[in-house]
Parts: sequence; C-alpha cells; structure tokens
Amino acid sequence: MKNMGVVGGGLMGSGIAEVSARAGQDVVVVESGEEAAKAALGRLERSLERAAAKGKIDSVDEVLGRVRVVTDLDAVADRDVVVEAIVEDEAAKVALFRQLDTIVTTPDAILASNTSSIPIMKLGVVTSRPQQVIGIHFFNPVPVLQLVELVPSLLTSGDTTERSRAWVQDGLGKQAIDCQDRAGFVVNALLIPFILSAIRMFESGFASAEDIDRGLVLGAAHPQGPLALADLIGLDTTKAVAESLYEEFKEPLYAAPPLLQRMVDAGLLGRKTGRGFYTYG
Ligand code: NAI
Repeated sequence: MKNMGVVGGGLMGSGIAEVSARAGQDVVVVESGEEAAKAALGRLERSLERAAAKGKIDSVDEVLGRVRVVTDLDAVADRDVVVEAIVEDEAAKVALFRQLDTIVTTPDAILASNTSSIPIMKLGVVTSRPQQVIGIHFFNPVPVLQLVELVPSLLTSGDTTERSRAWVQDGLGKQAIDCQDRAGFVVNALLIPFILSAIRMFESGFASAEDIDRGLVLGAAHPQGPLALADLIGLDTTKAVAESLYEEFKEPLYAAPPLLQRMVDAGLLGRKTGRGFYTYG
C-alpha cells in the first residue's frame, strides 16, 4: 500500500502524514478549510525542518514533494489506506465515515480511524464495508513514538487487520499491539484515569502542578509528569477521551473533573493554545 490519505491535519494528522511521507508513501492530507490546510502544511514543514536539523532526513523538499494538502475530500478516492484524524467527536467521525464510504473507490481500501476512544464498530456500521474499517491508533508525537494500537471491530476482517499490521510495521517502521474494540483500547484505558487523578490532586490543592509532575518524573522515571502530558495531548482531547471512557464503563475514575471541564470551556487547551496547566511561549 503506497497511496495513503489522512483526513484532519492537526497535531496527529500532520504527524501521521509526516511518518508516511518519510517512509516513501504518496500522501494526501485533507483539511476542513483553507486556513486549516495552511496550518497543517506549516506544522508539517516545521516538524520536517526539525527532523532535518537533527540529521534524520536529508531533504525537507524531497519529503514534502510526496505530500499534497487539500480541502476536497474527493482527493482520497484513489487511496489504498485512509486514516481519519479529525476531532474526537463521534457525530463528526460517523458523518465522515459515511462520506468516505461513498468516495473511496480502491477495492479493499482500508478505512482507518485514529480515534483514541470511540468504538470502531460505530464507524464501521455506517459504511457498506465494515470489514475494511479498523482503528489504527498512533501516539503523540507520531514521528517519535513507536507504538500503534491496532483495533479491529467484531466486523473487521482478518485480512484488513493483517494488511494494516504490515502497513504500519513494514511500511512505516512502527510497532503494533492488538487491542479489543473497547473505549480507550490498552494505553488510554490506563493513562487517562492516571491523568484525571493528577488533575483531581491538583484541583484539591493537595500539591502544585510542578510538584505532581516532578514527583512522577523523579520518583517513577516517567519522561514527563501527567499534567505536562495532558497539556501535550490537548485538554479538549483528554476530556473527550475521558467522556468516552466514562460513557463505556460508567466508572467514576473516568469522569472528567470540573477543573478540566472549566479549562476546556476557557480555551486553555494546553500546548496548542499556549496555556493549560503550564504556560508556553
Ligand atoms: P486536532 O484538534 O489537533 O486536529 C484535528 C484536525 O481535524 C483539525 O486540524 C481540524 O481542522 C480537522 N478537521 C476537523 N473536522 C474535519 C473534517 N470534517 N475534515 C477534515 N479535517 C477536519 O486534534 P488531534 O489531537 O490531532 O486529534 C485527532 C484525532 O487523533 C482524535 O480522534 C484524537 O482522539 C486522536 N488522537 C489524539 C492524540 C493526542 O495526543 N492529541 C493521540 C492519539 C490519538
């Protein structure tokens, strides 16, 4: 599979486009409008420039030459694999999968979602080809983190799962683990309640954000603390994943604390808006 498409060129979509283009794939990124497309291209360029400065790629232009950023979803019609990476909103993703089903004409094309928490089944059943719909869940930052979770629904074919595995492992050089189609899969089902606990601890005044994060970095050898990680993920995405987990399991440990909700209401979304638990330049 050499032709890939990404729908949504945000934090994750631009990263997925980058690793695909760096692996030699022909890449189409679809964004929702001209401004967002410009932002997606800018993100990609800056990340490739950082990779070139570190000697990880020879030429930014060579990699960028394999990428088209467009606003017309029809551009993914001929793709072998399309990865959806739009906002974590079930209604938006369902609507998009309906559209992809009518647009993508490649026989056996894989229609993948990078969702963190929305059941793959809900996306598969709105298409005429649920056997070709799968979760391919990358981790942030995509060019750095090796893991991909493969999430077949009950209706995904074994062939789709194995071709997806070959694509991420042999094609992109990532490492895959297999997960059941349950909200949060493996990593977020463990990580999100941990982050929510840290937010509750901070909210209660038990410890400062800096001390909570330093505690986990220095005491548990985490590369960064849970509040800095929430800022990196994006507080809107963190809240959306928590809500999906709560909806699925109805366990209090998945309930988004009021502070997280207020910060999202305020637009304090973490690194991407310059302020979350920390302030960024
Ligand atoms: P983001 O907010 O940075 O990017 C979403 C992008 O999708 C935006 O650029 C937006 O303009 C675009 N978009 C929205 N609707 C669209 C449409 N109909 N067509 C085309 N483009 C559209 O969000 P982020 O963080 O990249 O998350 C994307 C997905 O990846 C979500 O499902 C999220 O749960 C998942 N994810 C996020 C991770 C993270 O650490 N942020 C990690 C792993 C998965």
